[in-house]
Amino acid sequence: MDLRWIPHLSPAYALAVALRRDVLRKPLGLEFSEAQLADEAEDLHLAAFDGTELVGCLLLSDRGSGRVQMRQVAVRQDLQGQGLGALLVRESEAEALRRGFATMILHARETAVPFYLKLGYGLVGEPFAEVGIPHRSMEKVLV
Ligand SMILES: CC(C)(COP(=O)(O)OP(=O)(O)OC[C@H]1O[C@@H](n2cnc3c(N)ncnc32)[C@H](O)[C@@H]1OP(=O)(O)O)[C@@H](O)C(=O)NCCC(=O)NCCS
Repeated sequence: MDLRWIPHLSPAYALAVALRRDVLRKPLGLEFSEAQLADEAEDLHLAAFDGTELVGCLLLSDRGSGRVQMRQVAVRQDLQGQGLGALLVRESEAEALRRGFATMILHARETAVPFYLKLGYGLVGEPFAEVGIPHRSMEKVLV
């Protein structure tokens, strides 16, 4: 598996959006708006390739004060549970550290909380709804 940081609005980014649409949005009956995607210009976009196929992705958003938010973590359905999600998270943590961030934060879907707990993230605060489903805030101090 080949991990690459990809530019916003590049051909690879279009593949990442397609994967995110399939894995994260369509199951909820939602779509991305042009404005939502335009707002990702300043984010860092990580993609996992199997040959020419983009099979996993996430993005990082600078939240100020040394905090960076991991968002839109998606692995192609037929490849889930084989370690790819963990690989993406670890690479994003390493990059965040290289860029001087101190803390990774995220909003985890309830169903993904065990995944992030295994990767050393801690729960913060109470459950809340986002995109119409239960979420938890989680964070990890980067070392
Ligand atoms: C959540 C997701 C990104 C995890 O990626 P993945 O490649 O499937 O996960 P990995 O194989 O790297 O899992 C790492 C560990 O977490 C565990 N794990 C992963 N997803 C889990 C889940 N939903 N519940 C319980 N454990 C889970 C794995 O069993 C593995 O444990 P191990 O180290 O003991 O073997 C992926 O399943 C996915 O895209 N899910 C749908 C979209 C989604 O929910 N995204 C997250 C939004 S916050």
